[in-house]
Amino acid sequence: MSHLSERPEKPVVGVSMPHESAYQHVTGTALYTDDLVHRTKDVLHAYPVQVMKAHGRITALRTEPALAVPGVVRVLTGADVPGENDAGMKHDEPLFPDEVMFHGHAVAWVLGETLEAARLGAAAVEVELDEKPAIVTVEEAIAAESFHGARPLMETGDIEAGFAESAHVFTGEFTFSGQEHFYLETHAALALIDEGGQLFIQSSTQHPSETQEIVSHVLGVPAHEITVQCLRMGGGFGGKEMQPHGFAAIAALGAKLTGRPVRFRLNRTQDLTMSGKRHGFHSSWRIGFDAEGRIQALDATLTADGGWSLDLSEPVLARALCHIDNTYWIPNARVAGRIAKTNTVSNTAFRGFGGPQGMLVIEDILGRVAPQLGLDPIELRERNFYRPGQGQTTPYGQPVTQAERISAVWEQVKENGNLADRRREIAAFNAAHPHTKRAVALTAIKFGISFNLTAFNQGGALVLIYKDGSVLINHGGTEMGQGLHTKMMQVAATTLGIPLHRVRLAPTRTDKVPNTSATAASAGADLNGGAIKNACEQLRDRLRQVAGTQLGGNASDVRIVEGVARVLGSDKELAWDDLVRTAYFQRVQLSASGFYRTEGLHWDAKSFRGTPFKYFSNGAAATEVEVDGFTGAYKIRRVDIVHDVGDSLSPLIDIGQVEGGFVQGAGWLTLEDLRWDTGDGPHRGRLQTQAASTYKLPSFSEMPEEFNVTLMENATEEGAVYGSKAVGEPPLMLAFSVREALRQAAAAFGPAGASVELASPATPEAVYWAIESTREGAGEDLEAAAGTSALSNA
Ligand code: MTE
Ligand code: MOS
Repeated sequence: MSHLSERPEKPVVGVSMPHESAYQHVTGTALYTDDLVHRTKDVLHAYPVQVMKAHGRITALRTEPALAVPGVVRVLTGADVPGENDAGMKHDEPLFPDEVMFHGHAVAWVLGETLEAARLGAAAVEVELDEKPAIVTVEEAIAAESFHGARPLMETGDIEAGFAESAHVFTGEFTFSGQEHFYLETHAALALIDEGGQLFIQSSTQHPSETQEIVSHVLGVPAHEITVQCLRMGGGFGGKEMQPHGFAAIAALGAKLTGRPVRFRLNRTQDLTMSGKRHGFHSSWRIGFDAEGRIQALDATLTADGGWSLDLSEPVLARALCHIDNTYWIPNARVAGRIAKTNTVSNTAFRGFGGPQGMLVIEDILGRVAPQLGLDPIELRERNFYRPGQGQTTPYGQPVTQAERISAVWEQVKENGNLADRRREIAAFNAAHPHTKRAVALTAIKFGISFNLTAFNQGGALVLIYKDGSVLINHGGTEMGQGLHTKMMQVAATTLGIPLHRVRLAPTRTDKVPNTSATAASAGADLNGGAIKNACEQLRDRLRQVAGTQLGGNASDVRIVEGVARVLGSDKELAWDDLVRTAYFQRVQLSASGFYRTEGLHWDAKSFRGTPFKYFSNGAAATEVEVDGFTGAYKIRRVDIVHDVGDSLSPLIDIGQVEGGFVQGAGWLTLEDLRWDTGDGPHRGRLQTQAASTYKLPSFSEMPEEFNVTLMENATEEGAVYGSKAVGEPPLMLAFSVREALRQAAAAFGPAGASVELASPATPEAVYWAIESTREGAGEDLEAAAGTSALSNA
């Protein structure tokens, strides 16, 4: 029995409400993993033994000096691992390594009665190394041909024919930086063991089921001996999708060996030096345009800096390739991908999961070549948009449905931002100000929703109705501030037809919903919402039967609205609590497990073709900046965004996601500057930006002076939960407009028609150098003779 097409009356979804934990967040009463330690007795503290060299084989590891430190209970080493000594899904990530692979690699962990004892113990452990040369940058890895994992190739059309028909061919390279997650809560875990050997692990993890799986491998015990719970995270941003597993395994191993609870929470510098970040990329490209500026062919190689182990680098790279088209139709393309193996932390998921990197490459190309094509960047972008009704597909073969939404959000941003008038004002301002320039740039995004790997597109839930009519929901998704739990409660209340306060949500646990997917790919609400809705529909249908009999009508004519059941066309009523109690006495089952899988997906990783995405998310942003010609310092004067979230499940939450995503993207592209020691000295490979003092994050002073976010109207997404669309990651990429505005402002200091190369992140220093090069009048000349080969497609 399905009521998919039935529109609920007075739905709780679509109502603006604060995050379910907003009060706890702002009053400091929200509990995070490590807060639970204070409620646990006899806890041991774990502290990592980090080796401060970038590469070398371990020739000696002496733990006895640590055991002599008062309060040290035990030192965990590889010899203690009963199962597999590995923390990853690729089996290339030893939990206790024989070889130090990056500066700061933890090779052992010390357990102490106090944190201080564990810290002193860790400092006392002696490690000797046979040092080896270290590869620190992606360029060094390319030169040394140091790669790992898959080498995907995405091809469509006939690129040689495309180049032959091109009136303009350009080539270039672009290396850009990664990004630190800088979640407020660092990696943390707490493991407890009971008298039967059952392990209970609190972990700050986006992927409790995989944390459970890795712990099970490390300990060599079946999954049912391990329960992983995630109460909430103080931010994840992808950094807790795969990286928490090994950390949780350390706590679990310690608990198993000592019989006592074990906790740790990395301090900020440990977190920064031990955990993976957004992948920086190197790209080289050749692109052909016809005389009107339409892309004819793209030949590119993207090299992701994977770090020392694979982690999620392969799927991140796949998503990068799948997003190099962004909103543009590229009829002929050949895009190769590879993963550099470097002696740095293992880079991982970060909001957008490679998508931002792929899209940055094409946006950078368009920003650089527009002046050389003699086209306004807005015009150049518009000419290349996917068009509806033309059967256009992405380079990996997925039809671009809803292409009309690209121009819809674009046109609405122009209107909301009053672009035509403002561009005239900016031109007048620039003519009058030789040392200060303004520019406004407009960029759009298209982002595919679903995991590329089809199997991950499933969700589960468990919904319980108690005799008193109160409802408890469980689902497989985790809460990291994005508001998933709020949305899930709204979905449950809507489907059951009851007020929101009757619904309570239980923390995410692997013993409630098994085999869950990571809360990632922005699909949390789609997958878990589908599962909650499915469970609630089963319960609702059972209750409609009961109500139909009680009210003397057909079950199919019963509607439950705001906690009151009625039969259509009658005014007899049955209150929710009475209905539930009656159902209980009739021995009707009042719990249900729900399941959802996304239909219609297929993906062939080998041929790199298929329909990996359920739908695309669209948005557009216009950003105006002002740049100082003496220093390169800038400010963001105004941002206008129109973003498509379908029928929003929770508008306040969604607007928060759009604002937060945009600012995080602007941070990546303009401020956040990861620096590694690339010199040949003793600190080679060391992360130099190890704290908030040296790693600049966006703060209030960098916020746009005017920030207007609008959700697209009449945007119902058929086939997703209550017409909604995913929101978590896509808005990050709206920040391309900031970077392009900075480029255009820098260009305004020089003669017209020059191409401006801009480093990423576009720090004030980088903007200053871009201004200097345009002032010299040279700019870049990217145009190559047709037929020139791309730089590194060997
Ligand atoms: N928002 C907050 N406040 N904190 C986070 O850690 N993570 C982002 C995004 N928004 C994140 C966030 C990332 S990387 C993803 S994939 C999605 O939220 C995951 O949640 P969802 O699937 O429920 O949107
Ligand atoms: Mo988000 S990068 O998919 O966790």
